[in-house]
Amino acid sequence: MDALELLLTRTSTPLLSEPAPSAEQLELMLKAALRAPDHGSLRPYRFIRVEGAGRERLGELFVAATLAQDPAASEAQLTKCRAMPLRAPLILVAVAVTQQHPKVPVSEQVITAGCAVHGLVQAAYAQDIGAIWRSGDLAFNPRVAEGLGLAEQEQIVGFVYLGQVVKAKPTPELDATGLLTDWGVA
Ligand SMILES: Cc1cc2nc3c(=O)[nH]c(=O)nc-3n(C[C@H](O)[C@H](O)[C@H](O)COP(=O)(O)O)c2cc1C
Repeated sequence: MDALELLLTRTSTPLLSEPAPSAEQLELMLKAALRAPDHGSLRPYRFIRVEGAGRERLGELFVAATLAQDPAASEAQLTKCRAMPLRAPLILVAVAVTQQHPKVPVSEQVITAGCAVHGLVQAAYAQDIGAIWRSGDLAFNPRVAEGLGLAEQEQIVGFVYLGQVVKAKPTPELDATGLLTDWGVA
């Protein structure tokens, strides 16, 4: 796929099916993530792979985290939490790994982590693999972070759901009007 075509046409795919991307496809996605602009070459991100039965465990972690925050959570809410990770054969939990740095503020490091996720998702699309980047309350829930083994300086920037495209979403026409303004023009 032509690079510009990729950049101009990528869409997310909420509906994903088996099989998960192959090891080779995943390797290319991770290499694309590594191309993220990275002030100080800190590589401030990592990915946690959740697949197979791990997805059910993640669902149980979501349930426990939801109950910890709201002991009165409804059975419907908990069922939804349990089912969330089953929406794709593979989930990569994208984690920003930040540090105090004399030249690179933490906010820049989180931006780099976001760019890494974007690169990963683009590389999925380029290989005809469906992907969607999701967050939601659970991405910010401390119990989820703890359950996934995150360190203090780490934060979840998203859950990247990956699998086969069930139904491709049409690429909507986007209008760049208003995106660009001029400054300093006489
Ligand atoms: C940080 C981040 C978090 C997101 N969280 C969600 C989410 O929880 N649920 C969701 O449906 N879309 C979420 N999105 C948006 C989707 O990934 C996707 O971009 C959106 O559905 C638009 O589709 P498109 O990528 O095909 O333009 C998130 C995007 C980002 C960058």
